[in-house]
Amino acid sequence: MDKDALVSRLKQRLAETGTTALAASLRAGLGKGVVSDILSGKSANPGIETLRAVARALDCDLADLLTATPAPAGKRTIVLIVGGGISAYKSLDLIRRLRERGVTVRGIMTRAAQEFVTPLSVGALTGGRVFTELFDREDEHDVGHIRLAREAEAVIVVPATADLMARMASGRADDLATAVLLATRAPVLLAPAMNPAMWGSPATRRNVATLTKDGVHFVGPNAGEMAEANEAGVGRMAEPLEIIAALETLLDGETGALAGRKVIVTSGPTHEPIDPVRYLANRSSGRQGHAIAAAARAAGAEVTLVSGPVSLPDPAGVTIVHVETAAEMLDAVTSALPADVAIMTAAVADWRATSVARAKIKKQARGAPPTLALAENPDILSTVGHLASGRPRLVIGFAAETDDLLANAARKLKAKGADWIVANDVSPETGVMGGVDNTVHLLTAAGVEDWERLPKTEVARRLVARIADALSEKSSERMARSSRV
Ligand code: C5P
Repeated sequence: MDKDALVSRLKQRLAETGTTALAASLRAGLGKGVVSDILSGKSANPGIETLRAVARALDCDLADLLTATPAPAGKRTIVLIVGGGISAYKSLDLIRRLRERGVTVRGIMTRAAQEFVTPLSVGALTGGRVFTELFDREDEHDVGHIRLAREAEAVIVVPATADLMARMASGRADDLATAVLLATRAPVLLAPAMNPAMWGSPATRRNVATLTKDGVHFVGPNAGEMAEANEAGVGRMAEPLEIIAALETLLDGETGALAGRKVIVTSGPTHEPIDPVRYLANRSSGRQGHAIAAAARAAGAEVTLVSGPVSLPDPAGVTIVHVETAAEMLDAVTSALPADVAIMTAAVADWRATSVARAKIKKQARGAPPTLALAENPDILSTVGHLASGRPRLVIGFAAETDDLLANAARKLKAKGADWIVANDVSPETGVMGGVDNTVHLLTAAGVEDWERLPKTEVARRLVARIADALSEKSSERMARSSRV
């Protein structure tokens, strides 16, 4: 019998069921100290009947107690505080994804959080005890708020409610969550979620400003539909993968795979004015470009994001330049040069109105509709791809097509002087334009790679990982070449 695995699984099961060692012993019909003796190692060889009784008391099989592997020890430990809001359920997915990445998660829940998700679910996913009380009388588990605060490499709050932020901003420590937040020296990341009116209220604005000044980091909130019917605006919690990207930025910013590299990303549509109230546009949401900027930042790059009009929040830690037209986007990109990498994700309008009317064009009662004369916009990707000097080492374009995807993409790779093209099918039935997922093909000089359908945030992470690889290959090729001469 693997004793360590047994002890670890027993602890896990006690936490998952919210049972104390004493209660488990009594429920199993055993002596009062039997379970705690197993946990402490005092009882070196518990008999199989004893273990069977303990398993029954904890609602699991003997095999589950004996064969389960201990929770994997992650490379890093973070404290995740679950706040009391509807989006608390997303914390479960976040925990799962963090564990997949080898992160050990210690869960803390506020009292309000327990109205939305149970400690049982949080504990089952973290694979450990969930901490809820400032003063915990279960000595054998109590690690104390100072130790929880000290052992974490980061503390994240998901969701950060208006109330929790107010208590943090005033330095309260009247429950375990705020005590840990006050005591920690680790970076703190908040993922706020609340009704848009609460997010915009003067008190919350003040608290956000105070917390920002105190060095607290934020991810989101995003704009979108709220859980309450007919409510929309800024207040939706960032998605788990966005939170992970922000956490990675916080922890790996200085040492990530793109540390020391400069990256320019374009994103969103452009708006080409026709008159003071009308413009030409397209359905691009900016999700893919913004995700790439966030992923590059998370990998430690210095990022300039040139964005057309979108309703997304600015990704944390990047320099953002907001533009409207293709001409402005070209200006912003050329001013941001030099760079190591340029990733042109924006759906730049191909045409603009030849001349923009100064006043609103009036509808004629009986006249013919006006004719719109169009001029071609500058091609930003092609301009950067063909730069004779100061060309980024890696120039990457996107090809959004509704037909002949790969043939069109291959043509663009050549014509625009790009190193790579990320091709995606944007036919309406794919739901890519404006949606959260993307199915892409990566065209490079070496050929075509087909990627499976992935969230845009994951496409971004993979692309950034590929970029980091390519840059390091290029550096080593160059070094090899220069050592030959
Ligand atoms: O020609 P098409 O618009 O399909 O090319 C798409 C690629 O070119 C994208 O990377 C897009 O950002 C870029 N592009 C550009 N400037 C334009 C048109 C497209 O940078 N005027």
